[in-house]
Amino acid sequence: MIKAAARNLSWLYARSSYVICREIHNKKVIFSGIQPTGAPHLGNYFGAIKKWHSLQNEQNDCIFSIVDLHSITLPQDPVKLRQNIHLMTACLLACGIDPKTSILFLQSQVPQHAELSWILGTFSTMARLSHLPQYKEKSQNLDVIPLGLFIYPILQSADILLYKANAIPVGEDQLQHVQLCQHLARIFNNKYKTVFPVPSAIVDETCARIKSLRQPDKKMSKSDMDFKNRIELTDPPDLMLKRIKESLTDFTSAVTYDPENRPGVSNLILIHSLCTGKDFETICKENEHLDTGQYKLVVAEAVIEYFKPIQYEMNKLLSDPVYLTGVLNDGKEKAQEIASRTINEVKEAVGLSASCL
Ligand code: AMP
Ligand code: TRP
Repeated sequence: MIKAAARNLSWLYARSSYVICREIHNKKVIFSGIQPTGAPHLGNYFGAIKKWHSLQNEQNDCIFSIVDLHSITLPQDPVKLRQNIHLMTACLLACGIDPKTSILFLQSQVPQHAELSWILGTFSTMARLSHLPQYKEKSQNLDVIPLGLFIYPILQSADILLYKANAIPVGEDQLQHVQLCQHLARIFNNKYKTVFPVPSAIVDETCARIKSLRQPDKKMSKSDMDFKNRIELTDPPDLMLKRIKESLTDFTSAVTYDPENRPGVSNLILIHSLCTGKDFETICKENEHLDTGQYKLVVAEAVIEYFKPIQYEMNKLLSDPVYLTGVLNDGKEKAQEIASRTINEVKEAVGLSASCL
């Protein structure tokens, strides 16, 4: 019965049992990416990676990419970049991404990303790209703006569309990029033929924007020059403690949740809540006898405890680079199988084909 249904699916899917299963059970196709520009921080973990893990465990088809082509839109040292690719692979595995159930791969190993990006770029407009906030933010302090930084959201759309993903778990800062992808998918489908589903972002409101520790009006970010602004998953416990002790709060000593007026302490309460599963009210009640200085020690302990098993696993994985390379090579094979099918379909639709009509 299932086989018969599968045979009736469009020719596109006909050769892959992987995609056929996906269609029959009506699962979500999840795609997301992370740049190998350093160790992931608490914002990356709670805003994205933790969600990836739960979506994977809900039996969706999950494809996760270490997006190294994105990372070179700003200058990278080649040796450091290679190290960061291994580091990110180990971190994602330690956070529970399972290469047997999800596809985990390195973007530059699948050339179809750049190919589809070019095609989508032919009908993207400079006007639309120039409004994207991340481009504006990242180019702010540059004298000359690399073209890659400007067209990077087109590559991100290609990442998503190549796998016909329909659900994109990301932090809040990526919403406009997913909207651009929706726009490009619609234009393509109208202009040529319906090839792409229009994807939706999955954003978890509570942890969509973890704030910087010392500038709580900004988001915690990997590209922030000041390390004091973030906690990385690789930070040893004493460093995590130091970072939280040095975080900026305010002149009120009580532990109260008020993100508008008290963004610093509220960010700590949010991090505490994410690490313990306790709600804000319970946390404030339990710590009402403490001042914010004493409360920081409680938060640090919760963070250290939460990440202990992840760090243990990460260190084990980092001592086995051959295994990490193997995981990415396996992922590449699986990703390429899907990507090459989509790019062929796209080329056919656009007329980029030498075959007779
Ligand atoms: P990036 O570090 O830019 O590669 O981001 C990887 C993922 O983490 C993306 O889905 C981002 O939206 C998410 N992310 C980055 N920073 C934060 C933050 N401070 N809070 C929540 N999510 C974040
Ligand atoms: N641009 C994203 C970031 O900076 C990373 C990314 C690249 C991504 N391709 C993607 C996220 C596709 C979701 C889907 O965080």
